[in-house]
Amino acid sequence: MSLLTIHPDHRPEQAEVIRDPEQIAEKLWEIGVLFERWSAEHEFSPEADQETVIAAYRTSIDRLIDRYEFHSVDVVSLRPDHPQKAELRSKFLSEHTHGEFEVRFFVEGKGIFYLHPDDRVYIMLCEQGDLISIPAGIRHWFDMGENPNFKCIRLFSTPDGWVASFTGETIADQFPNFDQFLARHA
Ligand SMILES: [Fe+2]
Repeated sequence: MSLLTIHPDHRPEQAEVIRDPEQIAEKLWEIGVLFERWSAEHEFSPEADQETVIAAYRTSIDRLIDRYEFHSVDVVSLRPDHPQKAELRSKFLSEHTHGEFEVRFFVEGKGIFYLHPDDRVYIMLCEQGDLISIPAGIRHWFDMGENPNFKCIRLFSTPDGWVASFTGETIADQFPNFDQFLARHA
């Protein structure tokens, strides 16, 4: 199940735990983050390419493109047997911001966004069917775990939206990583 925990940024051990999707959406909306549950009704084979995934969700994707004027859509897919999984995981594992607003929809699998909008950290475990937006400029990091397994549709305004500005903070090290978080809350 999707799960949100909210912590003071200097006290990782103190947590408000929210499991109800409607309450998750309300809490995230307070910090400008859109959260929706979509039905992920399509099953894909591990070899399914980007075009197949996008075609399956074309109607919903077009709705988002109209609503937010996105110009780019792609699919990122990672499996536990990916040879560069450690390298790919480390890419966004430290706190950073992006200049562009982005939306992700989890078609399959799981990933955790850690959002640091103010003096709190929001840990959002996203699962299949979750749509989340990351506003431009919000401090955050992302963990896919030691054995990543997810497929996400990503929408953004420009391909440059993926450029990360790292804050240089080590806050990510003070919070449970993907595997620790799952072990704690499973
Ligand atoms: Fe990011």
